[in-house]
Amino acid sequence: MEKAAVLYTGKAKQMFATDDPDVLWVEYMDQATALNGKKKVQIAGKGALNRQISSLLFEELNAAGLPTHYLQTIDDHTMLVKKCAMIPLEAVIRNFASGSFERKFQVAHLRPLVPAVHEFFYKSDALDDPFINDEQAIALGFATRETLTAIHALSDRVNTYLLERFAQIGIDLVDFKLEFGRLADGTLVLADELSPDNMRLVDQESGNSLDKDVFRQDRGPLTPVYAQVLSRLQADAAASR
Ligand code: ATP
Ligand code: TYD
Repeated sequence: MEKAAVLYTGKAKQMFATDDPDVLWVEYMDQATALNGKKKVQIAGKGALNRQISSLLFEELNAAGLPTHYLQTIDDHTMLVKKCAMIPLEAVIRNFASGSFERKFQVAHLRPLVPAVHEFFYKSDALDDPFINDEQAIALGFATRETLTAIHALSDRVNTYLLERFAQIGIDLVDFKLEFGRLADGTLVLADELSPDNMRLVDQESGNSLDKDVFRQDRGPLTPVYAQVLSRLQADAAASR
């Protein structure tokens, strides 16, 4: 399969059409952004690491029977995915207090949250991705009640899988962001990306961040940290085969 016209250039990925109208060609870029794009730098190797971590986790979720958009890997920084009509919401799932939640409620850093907290943010660069609750999303026509119920259920299943998967390699999955879309036949699937760009990961032993907080807070080079997450996931996947 070949890539055709570029459809969209985002902050982390470029999406291309292919000769199959149901398939997108996704290139993970060597770019890091924070503060909704206000902080932006090139980091060699980051795209390939995020592509590899995403491929590995999407393949595992597919194998576990969770519906995702992932089809196959093409090369270091490229994968094919099923084209979706995206739901314009970012679903944030929190297992431990951090980031905006910790600031908003002034609670202890990494306080366990039971049940896991689900929050939606409306995907809008112009509005700076504002928080949106279920009724607001329904009233504004972004999703139906049924779709939100299905998103909450699928988010919980993904969280259960990933929380356990990272715990097995000594990492706490503190919080993360998911995006969902619908295939041409209406099936709801997990889309976008699964990488440390969209997760907070904390090493259980050292307490060190193994995610984009390293970049957000200027705490040193990012690629060795992402490479460590990938190699720990790969080592465990190999050990359990
Ligand atoms: P943000 O970083 O806030 O998510 P962005 O648009 O800059 O925004 P990128 O990851 O660079 O993010 O771009 C990828 C774009 O492709 C996103 O708009 C995402 O919603 C969209 N997308 C992801 N998976 C699919 C898919 N399977 N079908 C169609 N669009 C998709
Ligand atoms: P959050 O604590 O709300 O934001 P901040 O990191 O700005 O304090 O973020 C929670 C998690 O969701 C964190 O792992 C980052 C991820 N996330 C994204 O990847 N993109 C987003 O647009 C949002 C709102 C969150």
